[in-house]
Amino acid sequence: MQAEVEITGLGQAGEGVGRHEGLVLFVPGAVPGDRCLVEWEHGRKRMARARLLQVTQPSPDRVAPRCPAFGVCGGCQLQAIGYDRELSEKRRIVEDALRRIGHIDVRVPPTIGSGEAYGYRAKVSWPIRQGREEPRIGLFAQESHSVVEQDSCDVLAPPLRRLPELLRQGMRDLSLTAWDGRSGLLRHAVARRARTGEVILTLVATAPEPRLAQLAERLMAAMPELRGVALSLHDGQGNRVLGGPAQMLAGEGEIEETILGLRFRVGPTSFFQVHPAAAERLFATVLAWAGAGEGREALDLYTGVGVLALLLQRAGYQVRGIEYDEEAVSFARRNAQLNALAASFVPGDAQEADMPVPRALLTLDPPRGGAPRLAERLAADGPERVIYVSCDPATLARDAATLVAGGYSVGRVQPFDLFPRTAHVETVAEFLR
Ligand SMILES: C[S@@+](CC[C@H](N)C(=O)[O-])C[C@H]1O[C@@H](n2cnc3c(N)ncnc32)[C@H](O)[C@@H]1O
Repeated sequence: MQAEVEITGLGQAGEGVGRHEGLVLFVPGAVPGDRCLVEWEHGRKRMARARLLQVTQPSPDRVAPRCPAFGVCGGCQLQAIGYDRELSEKRRIVEDALRRIGHIDVRVPPTIGSGEAYGYRAKVSWPIRQGREEPRIGLFAQESHSVVEQDSCDVLAPPLRRLPELLRQGMRDLSLTAWDGRSGLLRHAVARRARTGEVILTLVATAPEPRLAQLAERLMAAMPELRGVALSLHDGQGNRVLGGPAQMLAGEGEIEETILGLRFRVGPTSFFQVHPAAAERLFATVLAWAGAGEGREALDLYTGVGVLALLLQRAGYQVRGIEYDEEAVSFARRNAQLNALAASFVPGDAQEADMPVPRALLTLDPPRGGAPRLAERLAADGPERVIYVSCDPATLARDAATLVAGGYSVGRVQPFDLFPRTAHVETVAEFLR
């Protein structure tokens, strides 16, 4: 089937969304405001994925993508949309999800943008795959596991752009093989850069091959900002990036970032926001909503290396943080000492942990799947204020519905753009008993 449709919004994966005779069409490559000719499989009743055949009238918000790999590489999806429109679409995505999935009608304010929409990405996982002759190091293509090599990726923090070629050279010189789906040595390289300029790299490999230490030494000699290279072993199948706990191959196992004046040591594999400057705006909002702690207790779930927990502790709360990654917990404890703040950190599963819930405040920042069982528990017996930091509007909306059914009202909701040029949207939402 073919039709000319008007694109009126963006889907979860950054595709354009249009409608034709009651059918919702998801059109990769189309931009809100475009009119375009599209084609889809006959017989679909409610929704279909459609192919963009021709843009018949471009949107006033259509811009030329900066990256030659745009449309092929799966790293970012929104380079063809002006940044203001990206922000307004992200606002609408949050409002729509709350209404459609959560049955919650709130007016969501404009998305707080990130300042830098390019050159910001401070963490990246490059798959390493065996090509016909050479290893390929880049990002996965859209909806595929083939690797697109684009060393001058504009979204990435500039110093990180040097690493893929240094890795290729090192692998070539040391005759190291790449993963081909069943065998081969190196399968991923995960890099993180802090605003101090320090970089840390984790190599994910199938075996503790001694030449990996040589590779690590070479990389450190070629890149002075590289503080350390770690190894994580992973010889299984599946799409998980990291394997076992990181062991150091060379250099130091941590770098330092600052957030709103506090210092955070971060290890090779623990979570840290990819756009620290934009994340500061989000954390400042949570602090403003939480207000002065005045000695009251707070619980920070999914605490990572303790960023929000320590900011809240500085604001006068007595904070306990829960996190299930043991590396992150030990960094969180050290970060408390480093900043002379008395927050405590406990390893555990935030959805299962048998923790007393404080009366004043609970904050949570779960991964994309959200926290459905925790939401049920809070609905039955939760604190006066819950502040939910979410990286997926759909699971936020689902969990929000559970909280509302349990007697909470929705307070403020604020979307943030922490991952410009990609379909990711971050939201902070407040729930009041
Ligand atoms: C989105 S990150 C947030 C980290 C932190 N709030 C920050 O901004 O730096 C989610 C964190 O939750 C942790 N995590 C994932 N599932 C968990 C669970 N079931 N229980 C506890 N922590 C979990 C991850 O290891 C990760 O550190």
